[in-house]
Amino acid sequence: MFSARSLFQEIVDNDAAYRLFCSIAARGETQGGWENGRIAALLPESHRDLAPKVARHGADEDKHGRIFRALLRRRGLTPVEVPEATDYTMLLERRGTGLAHNKLRREEPLGERDIIAYLAHSRVTEQRAAEQMLLLRKHFGDHPEVGRAVRMICHDEENHLAYCHEELLRLARAGHGRAIQRTLRQCALAEIAVHRDVSLAVMARMGRILGWSRSRSTLIRAGIMAFYGYERLFGWRRMVSLAMPARRNALGGPAATAPEFA
Ligand SMILES: [Fe+2]
Ligand SMILES: [Fe+2]
Repeated sequence: MFSARSLFQEIVDNDAAYRLFCSIAARGETQGGWENGRIAALLPESHRDLAPKVARHGADEDKHGRIFRALLRRRGLTPVEVPEATDYTMLLERRGTGLAHNKLRREEPLGERDIIAYLAHSRVTEQRAAEQMLLLRKHFGDHPEVGRAVRMICHDEENHLAYCHEELLRLARAGHGRAIQRTLRQCALAEIAVHRDVSLAVMARMGRILGWSRSRSTLIRAGIMAFYGYERLFGWRRMVSLAMPARRNALGGPAATAPEFA
């Protein structure tokens, strides 16, 4: 049948599937890096203290993009163009979560609401990233080809999530609690729908590349829809809670480098 482990094993074992997987991941990471870089540059005077952490967040995501491209290179592969239906960050932006790219391209400083929108969007998407990387680390943390990359990215995504909790709690204490809760809820509901759509689109392509039977494809689609049903009913709540993390100031200091990758 299928499990996350067997699914990912199939992808790693097939050049075309691996190429698509790493290309999609690299694109999302690089996009996240760009967004964070722009946000760091546009923070208003009143929030300049956040700037080094946002910049570090961006530097980490850029590094993840380079790591995924390095994984491709090591196998002698080049990135493929990422189909629109699998472009998670773009689809989220279209749903109005986070900050619009138009806004980020301008030179106007961000307002308080923008900062809440950025942190809430990050709180939700970093939870997804951290959970996915934890799952990968559980099964592939010792894999000779991808293990090191998976462990490094997993560690970073957990830091990003901790940072979002800490900064949102700081803003909540400053009186923005209601706006934060409202924004988090909107982001979470949009994200679970985008995650479902992207999962369906990625798995449809993987199914074609890997020659899955119709029943296997149907089973995987049903699994994605069932998971969405769970997230729509209950699961989204895990993405909107705020708790002071054990790891404080997780993004204080410069990004760890990854010279073996890039
Ligand atoms: Fe990342
Ligand atoms: Fe991240």
